[in-house]
Amino acid sequence: MDDKVTTKTLFRMKQKGQPIACLTAYDCLTARLLDQAGIDLILVGDSVAMVFAGYENTLPIRMEDMLYHTAAVKRGVKRAMVVADMPFLSYQTSIADATHNAGRLLKESGAEAVKLEGGRVAAPIVKNLVERGIPVMGHLGLTPQSIHKFGGYQLQARDKESADRLMAAAKALETAGCFAIVLEKIPYQVAKRVTETLKIPTIGIGAGPHCDGQILVVDDVEGKFEDFVPKFVRRYADVAGEMRKAYRGYIDDVRQGKFPTLDESFSEE
Ligand code: KIV
Repeated sequence: MDDKVTTKTLFRMKQKGQPIACLTAYDCLTARLLDQAGIDLILVGDSVAMVFAGYENTLPIRMEDMLYHTAAVKRGVKRAMVVADMPFLSYQTSIADATHNAGRLLKESGAEAVKLEGGRVAAPIVKNLVERGIPVMGHLGLTPQSIHKFGGYQLQARDKESADRLMAAAKALETAGCFAIVLEKIPYQVAKRVTETLKIPTIGIGAGPHCDGQILVVDDVEGKFEDFVPKFVRRYADVAGEMRKAYRGYIDDVRQGKFPTLDESFSEE
């Protein structure tokens, strides 16, 4: 349990049939708690745009934001593998841009790998990064950076043709050198076939129980993000409720003159 998690650890876990537990984080304290709880992999997701920065989708988040949040997460983590999401337009424009930006995430914020979205088009980018020593996690199915192409957050790979396309893309990413692939919001049967076909681990989010690992957005697991709750989310706490209770308690105490007491104050000599 104490050994640092690397791409090799994840590969071995798949071989041994040990499920890989992953969550997102965007700040040092949450990352430290996740690490202490024994999480295997922390993704500094571009979901930070929605659950931290309040944007409607993931597109507006910038490289500088990802560098800042990844460095914060990294400072809280000893054991888990830390993966940084590559934001929209940081890798789609050219292989040179992808190399420069992925390199910055490793060099300036301490990420141990990057994640990027896309299938066959992304494969040459992945190959180039891996050849330069940058581990890459793929992301297929519902890829939120393509929200405007999809026209919403619908289930992907629903028919045979698109499921076959997804399988081909997964194989292309594996051949290009990805160490793992996130499968988002696809039928569990498709995820099962991909998982059984690939040697590298699949990490599911809304992709059923047959993936090698699971990932969720940490604010969903905590019950902190309340705008919407997807079917595939399981809430393990009501952090939003607890926070509101704490804030109201403080406000009431201040208004009623109950905080601070003299015990919570300093006295002259
Ligand atoms: O940005 C993110 O948080 C993600 C995960 C949900 C897979 O991409």
